[in-house]
Amino acid sequence: MTLDEAIATLATFNDDPAAGGITREIYTPTYGAALDWVAERMAEAGMEPRVDPVGNLFGRWPGADPAAPQVLTGSHVDTTLNAGRYDGVLGVLGAIDAVARLRAAGFVPRRSIEVVAWAGEEPRFGTGCVGSRMAVGELTRADLDRLADRDGVTIAAAMAAAGHDPDALAAARLDPTTVRALVELHIEQGAVLETHGEQIGVVTAIAAPHDFRITLRGAPNHAGATPMGLRRDALVGAAELVTEIERLATASPSGTTVGTVGVLRVRPGAINVVPGEVELEVDIRDSDLASRRHVVDAIVAAAHTIAGRRGLAVTVAPIVEDVPIACHPEVVATTLAACTELGLTSRAMISGAYHDAMIVGRHMPVGMIFVPSRDGLSHHPDEYTAPDQLAAGVAVLAGTLRRLAA
Ligand code: GLV
Ligand code: MN
Ligand code: MN
Repeated sequence: MTLDEAIATLATFNDDPAAGGITREIYTPTYGAALDWVAERMAEAGMEPRVDPVGNLFGRWPGADPAAPQVLTGSHVDTTLNAGRYDGVLGVLGAIDAVARLRAAGFVPRRSIEVVAWAGEEPRFGTGCVGSRMAVGELTRADLDRLADRDGVTIAAAMAAAGHDPDALAAARLDPTTVRALVELHIEQGAVLETHGEQIGVVTAIAAPHDFRITLRGAPNHAGATPMGLRRDALVGAAELVTEIERLATASPSGTTVGTVGVLRVRPGAINVVPGEVELEVDIRDSDLASRRHVVDAIVAAAHTIAGRRGLAVTVAPIVEDVPIACHPEVVATTLAACTELGLTSRAMISGAYHDAMIVGRHMPVGMIFVPSRDGLSHHPDEYTAPDQLAAGVAVLAGTLRRLAA
């Protein structure tokens, strides 16, 4: 099966085909079936698959020196809602393909190479990258009971329902000293490479999100009988705030801050009731932490100003505050060398999206390889990268693994 065929087959594990894209959230039965299928592909490529107690899937290609720190590569095979087929998937199926190619070429790694499909990179539970966070000890048992999805299902409950063990966090820990480096192959999810006509992005830093929930509370009341002047409409306050968030992110000192309100929950949500309560989930990102902080503080201040003017109560609750990371210079140099060897054009660039590499990169050397995304589209059913572009990314990954594992 070619990489393209494998990506197409994985895309059939889908909970919402009618929407046009792919919905395969972590710890669902559909995700479990997809992961089993990926494990079979690992076995076919000669790796020994194993699922850790929290649902991270690893496939190992043992090296000649099993005691040497290993080389890790991988990404995720869960999706956000109505998503594309390449996000994360390329980094897992492409890594299996890279291993198969290295093996077919007769390469014998000194260090073991392990392919990983991290559990839950997409934020079903508000916080993304839960599998990689658990592997590096960044989620506690209490967090698994606290973090819940849009239906109130906690990580712990979802894990248990999927046959994993939320009480086995210690057994899922990955000792960073056993890892030489992690390399993640991914689609760019933006239009920088396409715009510049370059084949490969060599990531030097990964921008990080600061996510939080703002709740505005006003007075729910009858939509027909309540005059305009006597309302405390939480949604109109939220509308003003959304516009202000766009303005503040655009005016950020770094010029690279991005701000999004991707979730709005309106209560009670009836056409004949003035909205009494609105929850906004806000995502602010930058690789420049000072600018990100500045924008977040300004948004919270704006929420209080708008709420004060409209007689609304406001609360702000944290979701996640991640730190941007720099990719390791040695991994970056190794990837650049692989591009040069293959005669591929490349660009050093920052990742605006977050990735599992950002989480594990706080604990071990990491690097990332990007391939172009058509029209810069991602988290969208029309996400697309052409087969030759995918193959170039796999070739660069193989060249990087070969060097790191030698
Ligand atoms: C990852 O999916 C992100 O939202 O950056
Ligand atoms: Mn994604
Ligand atoms: Mn991804």
